Amino acid sequence: MRDAQKDILDAFDKVTLIESATPIQRLQKLELRLGIKRVNLYIKRDDHMAFAGGGNKLRKLEFLLGEAIAQGCDTIVTTGGLQSNHARLTAAASARLGLDCELVLGRVVPRHDAEYENNGNVLLDQIYGAKLHVLPQGEKAAKFAANRIQLLIEEGKRPYLIPMGGSSPLGALGYAKCSDEIMQYERDNDIRFEKVLLPNGSSGTHAGLAAGFVTRGRSPTIIRSYSVLGEQEQAVQQTLKLANDALALVGSSEIAPNQIDVDGNHRGEGYGIPTAEALEAIASLAKTEGILLDPVYSAKAFAGMLHDIAAGDFVEGANLLFLFTGGGPGVYAYRSAFAF
Ligand SMILES: Cc1ncc(COP(=O)(O)O)c(C=O)c1O
Repeated sequence: MRDAQKDILDAFDKVTLIESATPIQRLQKLELRLGIKRVNLYIKRDDHMAFAGGGNKLRKLEFLLGEAIAQGCDTIVTTGGLQSNHARLTAAASARLGLDCELVLGRVVPRHDAEYENNGNVLLDQIYGAKLHVLPQGEKAAKFAANRIQLLIEEGKRPYLIPMGGSSPLGALGYAKCSDEIMQYERDNDIRFEKVLLPNGSSGTHAGLAAGFVTRGRSPTIIRSYSVLGEQEQAVQQTLKLANDALALVGSSEIAPNQIDVDGNHRGEGYGIPTAEALEAIASLAKTEGILLDPVYSAKAFAGMLHDIAAGDFVEGANLLFLFTGGGPGVYAYRSAFAF
């Protein structure tokens, strides 16, 4: 089953942006500091990739940019918020592949200080040589990008549009491979993870991971994500549709609605607005393990996981795997959120 699935994924056009499986580490110091005894905490370091600061979007970009190149495209256009990690990684990957890159960045977060406007991912986008279109408040990025694509075609370019967060069914397939890495780790180390926990923004990461587990004979209920963008029900529907559309690409069976577990209780006031629990999670992990979560995605999910552990949601002795999706450069845009 596993090899057959591997062959199916190999049949897609891809570029290589990730050289090897990302590490899985035990968080024993954090367990000690927080007095966690009932469960064992592990972290998968998808921030730990040898390209452009790493992060979940690189897995999606391997498939999306593979298709762009196979179609003979020369300009990549994508959308996101001003501090989008996806935009930064699209800029870096396009640079490496010799493609032009245009980023359409919307103002979706109520932050306007100098760090948010100029530092973090926005700074890196420019260093990686992308052309930025920073939209005024209220202007829709998807519409601007569609118009921009038309203009590029009229100029004789061959543009390729990547949707927000790289979360198309094809992009989601990038995470099918991650489920393989997790199951390989289980076999190599003779353990089994009861839950894989992660943030959910545009839902492609949860969806792709779910599709990967299904094709490898494992229930997608192993995954719990924490929504940082949409309302819980909207995130469930979006994740379910993307997972099933990704599964259709590899000709595999469908996931049922009750197999998608998204928790919407840790988003706080909204996307990009850090919660007190998230800032606390950043401090705890940084001070005990030297691992830097980001305030927009991973810290909210980590805080959600710590809440669920304290609430006794997991069976005694459970092995929990937090999927750290990256986003470190975002910290530099949030200096004012930290009380130093
Ligand atoms: C660091 C980080 N983690 C998690 C996510 C959420 O992933 P997805 O959009 O696939 O749900 C994103 C999306 O932008 C991200 O940048």
